Amino acid sequence: MRQGSARRPGHRVTTRHAQAIHPFVAAGGLGGRGAFIGRDQGGAAFCFDPWLLYAAGMLDDPNAIVLGKLGQGKSALVKTLLWRMLLFGRRAFVLDIKREYGPLCRAAGVRPIALVPGGGVCLNPLEARPEEHAQVQLLRAIATTAIGDGVDQAEAAALREALRTVRACDRVPTLPQIAAVLFAPPAEMAARLQTSPEQLAVDVRRAALALQDLCEGPLRGMFDGPTTPGLDLDAQLVVIDLHAVRDSPAVGILMACATAWMSALLARMAERPGRERLINVADESWKIIQHTGLGEWFQSNFKLARQFGVMNLVVLHKLGDLQAAGDAGSRAARIAEGLIADASTRVIYHQDESQVELTRRLLGLSSTEARLITRLAAGQALWRVGDRSFVVQHYRSRLEARLTDTDTGMRIELPAGPGAAAADPSFGR
Ligand SMILES: Nc1ncnc2c1ncn2[C@@H]1O[C@H](COP(=O)(O)OP(=O)(O)O)[C@@H](O)[C@H]1O
Ligand SMILES: [Mg+2]
Repeated sequence: MRQGSARRPGHRVTTRHAQAIHPFVAAGGLGGRGAFIGRDQGGAAFCFDPWLLYAAGMLDDPNAIVLGKLGQGKSALVKTLLWRMLLFGRRAFVLDIKREYGPLCRAAGVRPIALVPGGGVCLNPLEARPEEHAQVQLLRAIATTAIGDGVDQAEAAALREALRTVRACDRVPTLPQIAAVLFAPPAEMAARLQTSPEQLAVDVRRAALALQDLCEGPLRGMFDGPTTPGLDLDAQLVVIDLHAVRDSPAVGILMACATAWMSALLARMAERPGRERLINVADESWKIIQHTGLGEWFQSNFKLARQFGVMNLVVLHKLGDLQAAGDAGSRAARIAEGLIADASTRVIYHQDESQVELTRRLLGLSSTEARLITRLAAGQALWRVGDRSFVVQHYRSRLEARLTDTDTGMRIELPAGPGAAAADPSFGR
């Protein structure tokens, strides 16, 4: 350098400020820890673990929302994320509406729990929690769903006393036993409620009929006896296949059971803190979000997420769905908007031009990001992780490609156990 020459220094900014000009170039990686997802715009490996990022203060919560047009690879991302997280000892609970998690289950060595009317799988809701107070809550939630309306005070009290009556003789009560007691309340039960057995039977007939219909109507065989032996609700991966019942009240009942089951599982997990964490997945949940019971399920899970660090992972087709009219629509919209607010990780796949403005507004995207989402190719997504942005190409191993292929019949035999993934290093098919 010559003495005395005037040189203008190059323009320098911190990566934080450069991000305002171009969000993707300067974001910096998330570090190499967590499950491998794919490659970011700079070609670097993109890894993700919501709990590590949460612990590092980069995320406000471990929840994620995955959004995008049909066929863009949303479910494939979720399935590979689960498969890779299972290797880290994480647990997962999946609501499978489209019956597409079978190959993942087979590879992980578990069986999906398919709820089908007359299908031979019975879940006794009251078995989910042994404590009386939890069973009372569960029973009231089930009655609410079965009646299709809230339970009144007399019904709520009668359900509590009916449960006590049955528990006095049986260790694990079932719904038909509760219905029988409500139809013909014993004298002691009526006395505890300061009424006569005849009057009590009249007062709670609505609840008795609703529970009876649950046990003997179209959902017969699904909730009216002891849980089918051999169902492993404690497996590392639990997939509930709701395909056959997606339009029935069974969904609400099941959600009540699942809430109870999950809080029991989390309480057990809390006793042995370690690497065990739970990912709770609702794929294509919009289809069932309007069901009574499911909204409550989501809300209770948000609470659980805060308390226990559950990662709620919700897959939605488009946010335009949230604008649905009607009571159920506005209720579901509130729930979904709550979820968006509570999900610090947003993964956005290709969206049609018509969806961009709404997506931008609800997710708080910059105009660069909003333009980008109409140009993403299949398997490519914009990841908003807290206040950082990445464009990530999702990679699958050959085995994972077979686990996630929704175009073919998916009838391939797969090796069992998550360890099988490690044997196939060929990412980037
Ligand atoms: N990262 C990827 N690379 C290449 N193809 C993919 C990728 N992810 C998914 N696919 C393929 O795209 C198709 C649709 O994927 P899917 O996950 O079912 O989409 P969505 O859930 O968004 O409707 C599947 O057959 C799958 O094999
Ligand atoms: Mg899908």
